[in-house]
Amino acid sequence: MSSTVITGIGELTTNDDALGTIADAAVVIDGDRVAWVGPAGSAPDADEHVDVEGRAVLPGWVDSHTHLVFAGDRTAEFAARMSGQPYQAGGIAVTVNATRQATDAELADNLRRHVEEAAAQGTTCVETKTGYGLTVEDELRAAKIAATVADEVTFLGAHLVPPGTDATDYVDLVCGEMLDAVAEHVGWCDVFCEEGAFDADQSRRVLEAARRRGLGLRVHGNQLGPGPGVALAVELGAASVDHCTHLEPSDVDALAASDTVATLLPACDLSTRQPLPDARALLDAGATVALASNCNPGSSYTSSMAYCVTTAVPQMRMSVAEAIRAATWGGARALRRDTGDGAVGVLRPGARADLQVLDAPSTTWLAYRPGVPLTRAVWREGDRVR
Ligand code: NIG
Repeated sequence: MSSTVITGIGELTTNDDALGTIADAAVVIDGDRVAWVGPAGSAPDADEHVDVEGRAVLPGWVDSHTHLVFAGDRTAEFAARMSGQPYQAGGIAVTVNATRQATDAELADNLRRHVEEAAAQGTTCVETKTGYGLTVEDELRAAKIAATVADEVTFLGAHLVPPGTDATDYVDLVCGEMLDAVAEHVGWCDVFCEEGAFDADQSRRVLEAARRRGLGLRVHGNQLGPGPGVALAVELGAASVDHCTHLEPSDVDALAASDTVATLLPACDLSTRQPLPDARALLDAGATVALASNCNPGSSYTSSMAYCVTTAVPQMRMSVAEAIRAATWGGARALRRDTGDGAVGVLRPGARADLQVLDAPSTTWLAYRPGVPLTRAVWREGDRVR
């Protein structure tokens, strides 16, 4: 196991309350962990030395919401949307058909390719979901494939009622045989609680069945219109409720009074021509906010967390510091990986050695130079991956 000292850091974002943001800093990596963080002048020596010549360093992005076990693409659907057609979650069925027809190797290769694409842009921790299988066999297959690559795997059998299937029968299947099959391969269960997908009662059944099997809970809520998703997520103590595009004041208050993270997915809202979520109201009320890519072939086909940050600052009225924190620590909190040995989204001794170097003197450049690729170097679990 070798160690590396990174020196010449012009601005180091640690997300650690005690360490804060440090100018003229250094970080020491030992194996897959951060061993030391502090002012460059007091850095201990290490086997290897990397001088980043005044650039900004921050934790790797934590992308806490993706759907990467899929085949095919939906270019035509996207083009139709950009010509004025509304987003219809029914397009999920198109990806379900393509995914069912793909081989295990094709799905695994596609997943790996997207995770590597994200890593090259600074993403070092990825959650991904099932949800394009929707049979016991296909959901189990997706869960197993996801578990080979992703840091966190979420079961999303309740993504859509398969066309031609009775909704009650399908919820029975999800709550019974499907959860039994996937539970040992996943850490989380999610449900798409939205008009046209699963209503509050159906969503509650799925989430309670998952909780009985020891899974953590997440919810897709309030994406396409106001609805019960946020309230249900908070009531059941879900770790996050994702989308939050259409919030009532009561939803904001409920989130602010809870431990449920509001995960905002601006790339999805832009790609589906929805309004952007009211991040300012959430932050001002005291809610915890995460930013994630929602990378999937239908509603948000980008793996770029920088794009989410770049959007969130000028268009969602988040400060640069708030957006950076939401895309790193916020994602870690949504995955309940923000504390303890091997924490992500933070740079402190004992954290996982996941960090990125920007080709910029400060993180402000992520918003100041929109669209310019600024990822200079990336370490994931102590290995340099870019
Ligand atoms: O998070 N909202 C539901 N699920 C995905 C969309 C998936 C798709 O359209 O294929 C989402 O946006």
